[in-house]
Amino acid sequence: MEKINSINKICLTIQNSLNFKKYNLHEPIIGIEEKKYVNKCLNSGFVSSSGKMIDEFENEIKKITKSKFVISVVNGTEAIKISLVLAGVKFGDEVLVPSLTFVGSVSPIKHLGAIPHFIDSDLKNFGVNYNKLENYLKKNTFKKNKKSFNKKTGRVIRAIIPVHIFGHPCEIDKIVNLCKKYNIVTIEDAAEGLGSYYKKKHVGNFGLFGCISFNGNKIITTGAGGVVLTNNKKLASKLRHLTTTAKVNHPYEYIHDDVGYNLRMSNLNASLGLGQIQNFKKFLSHKKKLYSHYLKFFKNSEYFEFFKEPKYADSNYWLQTIVIRKKYQSYKNDIIKKLQEKGIGVRPAWKLISTLSPYKNYPSMSLSNAKKIYDSVINLPSGPGVKISLKK
Ligand SMILES: Cc1ncc(COP(=O)(O)O)c(C=O)c1O
Repeated sequence: MEKINSINKICLTIQNSLNFKKYNLHEPIIGIEEKKYVNKCLNSGFVSSSGKMIDEFENEIKKITKSKFVISVVNGTEAIKISLVLAGVKFGDEVLVPSLTFVGSVSPIKHLGAIPHFIDSDLKNFGVNYNKLENYLKKNTFKKNKKSFNKKTGRVIRAIIPVHIFGHPCEIDKIVNLCKKYNIVTIEDAAEGLGSYYKKKHVGNFGLFGCISFNGNKIITTGAGGVVLTNNKKLASKLRHLTTTAKVNHPYEYIHDDVGYNLRMSNLNASLGLGQIQNFKKFLSHKKKLYSHYLKFFKNSEYFEFFKEPKYADSNYWLQTIVIRKKYQSYKNDIIKKLQEKGIGVRPAWKLISTLSPYKNYPSMSLSNAKKIYDSVINLPSGPGVKISLKK
């Protein structure tokens, strides 16, 4: 009885914070600007992977992120995959990656025949746990020929993919510097992080590459799409070449000087993105206000703690998050189920990837924090259409 009462009270608190309205987890707003740009694209006839709007979109992302080079691709997962290829990840290499992340951080490792090596999360920012990583690398690797090897498997550890979970920056400068000492290349998964800054620098600019997604549920969308950020000119031009079938410039002949990929974002997708960018600042400010709105509702709650961003971070608050207090964590699934039945798009954090059948039995450190996050976190409706009132 006490359980049912608590679940009812928790659900009512969440419904109340939404003024008893129904919302999906994260729905985009597609308005006049978007339609204007998409129509312009349709009228131009350039709907595929050539056209000016892709270049324009890349330039807009450059302005936001201050990255020197921005290369657009078909989605965030492919952005990570092509970055791994250019980072030199080969069949049988190990790649460090959090177990608590979206599967798109991990599947590209497997696509290349490389081995995911799972690392634990940080309770403060949900990203990679720096201290644990430092101790783990010290104990579990050896160096030879300027490479780091896993003592247990004898395989080279070639790269790491830190993820800025829910848009919250992890301790990326410390992670990059640590991994440099081990000759491990950093590819930032900033899929959720457009508009997030770590010590005033946009995420995705710390590693050799940074990858952003524009899936329909992100802060801005291109329908499907992604970009790779890099500040390395040579790698940028190689990336652009490889993602556009490695075709050599020639007035009429089809000459390809490498085995390329057909990954360039379409002009049509970019046109939607250009429309969304007109509203980017508005969406970003809405997310911060939404955070304050939820904070007011859940502050001092007997049921939840509310995530607070660390001092070094300026998060885009892509997905709003509550952390259920220990006493009530066993009710998590009931709470989610009940709220979903009421038309409220809440969801749990991702199941640890290392527990899913295609990703089992790979190397891993202990994942105690990742498990704690999975057991306690619920994401709340976070889209730009969620109405905010800052009085309670
Ligand atoms: C953390 C993370 N990594 C990777 C991806 C993959 O991006 P996409 O869906 O554009 O392939 C996403 C999002 O969808 C994500 O949230």
